[in-house]
Amino acid sequence: MSQSISIDDIEVPFESGQTIMDAALAAGIYIPHLCHNPCLKPHGSCKLCSVEVNGRSVSSCTTKAEDGQEIINNSEKLNKARLTITQMLFIEGNHLCPTCEKTGHCTLQAVAYHLGMLDGHFPQFYPKREVDASHPSIMLDRDRCILCELCVRASRDMDGKNVFAISGRGTDSHLSVNSPTGKLVDSNIDKDDLAVHICPVGAILIKEHGYEIPIGCRTFDLRSIAEIDLGDVKLSEKSQHNE
Ligand code: SF4
Ligand code: FES
Repeated sequence: MSQSISIDDIEVPFESGQTIMDAALAAGIYIPHLCHNPCLKPHGSCKLCSVEVNGRSVSSCTTKAEDGQEIINNSEKLNKARLTITQMLFIEGNHLCPTCEKTGHCTLQAVAYHLGMLDGHFPQFYPKREVDASHPSIMLDRDRCILCELCVRASRDMDGKNVFAISGRGTDSHLSVNSPTGKLVDSNIDKDDLAVHICPVGAILIKEHGYEIPIGCRTFDLRSIAEIDLGDVKLSEKSQHNE
């Protein structure tokens, strides 16, 4: 028997085991998200993808779809909460978009555009964070890390290397490198690893390839985050969680 959920009054079919996010993306419905990638097991940390299910707030990337769920996604209340989360992510790091090589390719920036963010709203933290430029091909600038753990999961589950981890707690949380010195150069990371290419912001970059694509011709200069994410899902044959 076919099963379906309703998202903003649109009937969406799903298969057993799919999350609400899986079903939404497969149906061409965009739910804002940062720590989710269809190729990796969901993590549920950013909370940007929160939706209301039968009146209760849940992360759509970790909540299984169940027949008959009434889901609200695109509401003023939810988008306001998502905007606040995004503003907090901006002010707790050093996101200097105009000088960042990832500008125009950055998911955080694109989500901010999507949500109509015009300022940081909260006082800037200006944290002091360590930059790791030790590797000949890979740059790690923790200033822009949003602790989404995409690189952690990609390195562990796809590259089979476990190069990255999140260390510390609260405001001391930071991305650490599993190597004898804690430096990238002493890890077994390779510039072709998925972990190097999955970072949604400008925290992990390939060296010596800056500004090859001009500003104005970059991913989100040409298409919105919703169009890109839904297109990417079709290309990767929708949900392929590594469960
Ligand atoms: S370095 Fe990038 S991918 Fe890794 S946790 Fe930070 S923001 Fe996420
Ligand atoms: S995308 Fe669901 S919690 Fe981050």
